[in-house]
Order: sequence, then C-alpha cells, then structure tokens
Amino acid sequence: MKINFRVVAGSLAATLALASCAKEPVDLPFGTVQQMMANEVQPTADIYWGAVGSASELVDGQPVFREWQPETDAEWQAVAASAAKLRDLANTMGSPAYAEGRDAGWTDFTEGMAEAATRAEQAAQSKDADAVFEAGGTLYAVCSACHQAFPPEAGIPGEPVDMTPDQ
Ligand code: HEC
Repeated sequence: MKINFRVVAGSLAATLALASCAKEPVDLPFGTVQQMMANEVQPTADIYWGAVGSASELVDGQPVFREWQPETDAEWQAVAASAAKLRDLANTMGSPAYAEGRDAGWTDFTEGMAEAATRAEQAAQSKDADAVFEAGGTLYAVCSACHQAFPPEAGIPGEPVDMTPDQ
C-alpha cells in the first residue's frame, strides 16, 4: 500500500485514493483488511491447516513417511475452535465496517468463507481427520477465490496463503 501510494503520488489517482480513504470507516475492529488478514485470518487458518497432514522426510538419509492428526479431545477442540474463529472473522469481514464500499461480490466471499468454516468446524467436532483435510482444502479455495477477485492494490503478494504446516 505504501509503495503503491508512492508510485501514484502527485497524480490524479493519488487524489482519488485519498478521497476514498477519507470515506473509510475508522472503527475497524481488527484494523485494515490487510492487518486483519496478517494478524488474525492467516494465523488462525494455519492452526486448522496444520492439524492434519503427512510428509516425507529424510532421516539419516532415509525417506520416512509421517502422518499426524489431533490425538486428544483438547487437540480436536482447539482445531474446531480455530474453524469457529474463522467463521467469526468471515462474518466480521462481511459486516458493514469492512464491506462498505466494496462490490456486492465481497459478501458472497465472506459468506462462502463462513460456510466453509462451519463445515470445517463440524469435521473437527466429529474428529474425522480426512474430513478436516478436505474441509481445509475447501477453505483454502475460498481464500484464493477472494484474493483473485479482490487483489491487494500493491499486487498479489508472492505467497499470500501458505498451507504448509510449521512442522
Ligand atoms: C472476502 C475476501 C477475502 C477472503 C475470504 C480472504 N481474504 Fe485474505 N485478503 C483479502 C484482501 C482484500 C487482501 C488484501 C489486503 C490489502 O493488502 O489491502 C487480503 C490479503 C491477505 C493476506 C496478505 C496480508 C498482508 O500481510 O499483506 C493474507 C496472508 C491473507 N489475505 C490470508 C487469507 C486467508 C488464509 C484466508 C482464508 C482463510 C483469506 N485471506 C480469505 C480478502 C480476503
């Protein structure tokens, strides 16, 4: 956003950008969309996406196949809670504070994300690792679809969404 702003500074585009910024509601519960994505949506989605997975690793030069999924009730509960939080975040994104001034398509995507998050929560509640994996994929598709439709002004970041678990 800063880079983009510098590029257009001094032009009519800058004037227009300023005018539209001035109309933005100031009371955004999670800051700008970008801040909300970076600080809330991505870290919460990472919890869900990291919950179930598999990987081949080299251990002492030998490939070792590893699979993981939540084991305890508390672990499944944490995964379900991350999905519930994603639904809340989607609903907040669809609220007037974030939706105002966007095309109508915006709320289609926030509703899509809320639905995907609900299915993701149900999958975790039924402790079904395959269903969690699938629901994670559906969720990812909604993230990507909205990023395609509403790319950041500075261009789509190289790797806006990372489904690779941290392990
Ligand atoms: C309703 C539309 C919408 C949905 C759904 C959505 N995003 Fe975003 N996302 C955006 C927009 C718009 C931006 C660009 C914000 C900007 O730079 O102004 C963005 C940017 C991002 C960024 C970059 C933040 C940064 O630091 O620049 C990440 C990471 C991200 N989204 C993650 C996600 C994940 C993960 C999901 C799904 C769980 C998701 N988003 C779903 C609209 C959406």
